[in-house]
Amino acid sequence: MAIREIVLDTDPQLREKCIEVKRFSPTLHQLLDDMKETMEAANGAGLAAPQVGINKRIFVADGGEGYIEMINPRITKKSGEDIDLEGCLSVPDRQGYVRRALKITIEAQDRFGNAFTMETEGWQARIFQHEYDHLDGRLYTDIMLKEVFFEDEEEEE
Ligand code: NI
Repeated sequence: MAIREIVLDTDPQLREKCIEVKRFSPTLHQLLDDMKETMEAANGAGLAAPQVGINKRIFVADGGEGYIEMINPRITKKSGEDIDLEGCLSVPDRQGYVRRALKITIEAQDRFGNAFTMETEGWQARIFQHEYDHLDGRLYTDIMLKEVFFEDEEEEE
């Protein structure tokens, strides 16, 4: 395993629409292992392949409910609404409020190509929606309702 360099939001690579994974090969497994290690080393809750310079529809996530890998994910159902703070490993030292669906159903494939479906809500659903957006070249800063500066946060406490 190896820690890969995280692409920052100034890089046009993060704005591309990623392509579907067709081969569930050892190269894919190596990438997934590296993404997990990179996410953990950066204390992130999620990481999408374009964030390590790979233009493929892949993300990994761990929002406290267990580590998960999603290949070729599709969000097939959304319901409810939730506004909360988000950050992104590609947008260091910033955070902002983003409106997301509260509950989602997501279909994806695991690292061996097996299809699965997950229903989730709250924080994990937020992470999945954020990472999914990366696969279409969207960043949370495109849709955030309000940026929060660290001074503001202290005042609220
Ligand atoms: Ni992100």
